[in-house]
Amino acid sequence: MAKYIDKDELSRMSEYIEKLRARCDVFEAEYGRRPRALCETHGCQQNENDTERIRGMLRDAGYEFCTDANEADLVVFNTCAVRENAEDKVFGRIGILKHIKERRPHMMIVLCGCMVQQEHITERIKKVHSHIDLIFGTHALYRMPELLYKAYQSRKTVVDIENSPGAIAEDIPIMRDAAHKAWVSVMYGCNNFCAYCIVPYVRGRERSRTPERILDEVRALAADGVSEISLLGQNVNSYGKDLDEQIDFAELLRRVNEIDGVERIRFMTSHPKDFSDRLIDAMAECEKVCPQLHLPAQAGSNKVLADMNRRYTREQYLEKLNKAKSKIPNLALSTDIIVGFPTEAQEDFEQTVTLLQEAEFDSIFSFIYSRREGTPAAKLESVLSPEQIHANFDRMLKVQNEISRRKNEAYVGRICRILVDGESKTDKTMMTGRTDTAKIVNFPGDKALTGKYIDVKITKAQTWSLYGEYLRKE
Ligand code: SAH
Ligand code: SF4
Ligand code: F3S
Repeated sequence: MAKYIDKDELSRMSEYIEKLRARCDVFEAEYGRRPRALCETHGCQQNENDTERIRGMLRDAGYEFCTDANEADLVVFNTCAVRENAEDKVFGRIGILKHIKERRPHMMIVLCGCMVQQEHITERIKKVHSHIDLIFGTHALYRMPELLYKAYQSRKTVVDIENSPGAIAEDIPIMRDAAHKAWVSVMYGCNNFCAYCIVPYVRGRERSRTPERILDEVRALAADGVSEISLLGQNVNSYGKDLDEQIDFAELLRRVNEIDGVERIRFMTSHPKDFSDRLIDAMAECEKVCPQLHLPAQAGSNKVLADMNRRYTREQYLEKLNKAKSKIPNLALSTDIIVGFPTEAQEDFEQTVTLLQEAEFDSIFSFIYSRREGTPAAKLESVLSPEQIHANFDRMLKVQNEISRRKNEAYVGRICRILVDGESKTDKTMMTGRTDTAKIVNFPGDKALTGKYIDVKITKAQTWSLYGEYLRKE
């Protein structure tokens, strides 16, 4: 069983939330308004989910929220370490904040999350960016109220990046982004140590929440009107291995499927090595589990897969994928691909292209390999030049875009049930929602449809999204 943060420690944090609230009251008396916080997330859904907790703690402490750093009294960047460009973006943002802080010296700047869990990064920030007030890593998230309070009292940067296998903190306040769908973490951390990946070093070891806790959270969400639940973990297929109770992810899905009020269940991410027949059966038999599977392949060559320490072969991967396709009608597939892993030669890359052609994914998330200090692959020299890697990347996208478009075109003329997310971010004249297969559908419609399930007739397909017409019920 994972270590749990005990109740006394959590109530100590509630006391700090009250202390912060008293500070916010003083601020209001002086400035005639509540202090405003800007919370920005870089990285994956786990980080988004953590930011929802940061917002929850800050809301309880009496902050309001804003989206412009020029208006913020507190800025929190929840950072990602998975690729260098994620880190560069944060460094760029920190540089801009320096100028803003010159004009607004009372502004408090906080960096947290995966990137700052790495000691060499924190050292660099302390040396070069003394305008940062507080730095805390992934394991200290629940301690934010105490750390923030201390940062207000300190003239120096407060740092808490203690390395740890990780614990579980339950019942941290949370302020969710949407009213109709929610992420629910089922486990934290990762034990897989893929050769390129920093996540196990910054997120600690795998630890599963108990099924009672997860099901209680889902029940409470459903009672609040949340109908779509996405179960989250770096490798949900390892769920339960560390629990006393005999339970695996397939069984957890079945239990979530029983909860009244839940209409759609999604989950990510599945590691192919642990993707089991039991899970395929649960997906096929649970009517609320969406016909959608994200199964990261990373590469198509067995040599590269072995060097990456992925622990499956191309053949095993395709066999599992085909089994899922045959048992789950209308299954939408997506994957992650890394191009330019150091040992990837041209003939290995060609195998990735043929994998995409054989698997016919609906969509892929593709990345150029990024060297991560402290990982085993960081010591390897690249076989291909950066130019070759970029050319390969572009060619792969061309191949995939055609497949994605073809798959989307097959939807034209179909009637699909979508859950409406709200206004489209790219085209304000359109509303947007998703099919059970996670396809984005844009359609002309009213904002009042947000959070509702409606039928749309698909009229047009693009590579990344569909367009449709709302079929009003008479
Ligand atoms: N736990 C998930 C993924 C977490 S990271 C899984 O195993 O699938 C998300 C994706 O980022 C990975 O699937 C991988 O494709 C990519 N990634 C991770 N480390 C990377 C690196 N060093 N360079 C480029 N891409 C990387
Ligand atoms: Fe990284 Fe591999 Fe763990 Fe995914 S399974 S988080 S890629 S180490
Ligand atoms: Fe996620 Fe990035 Fe951390 S991908 S787990 S936020 S390193």
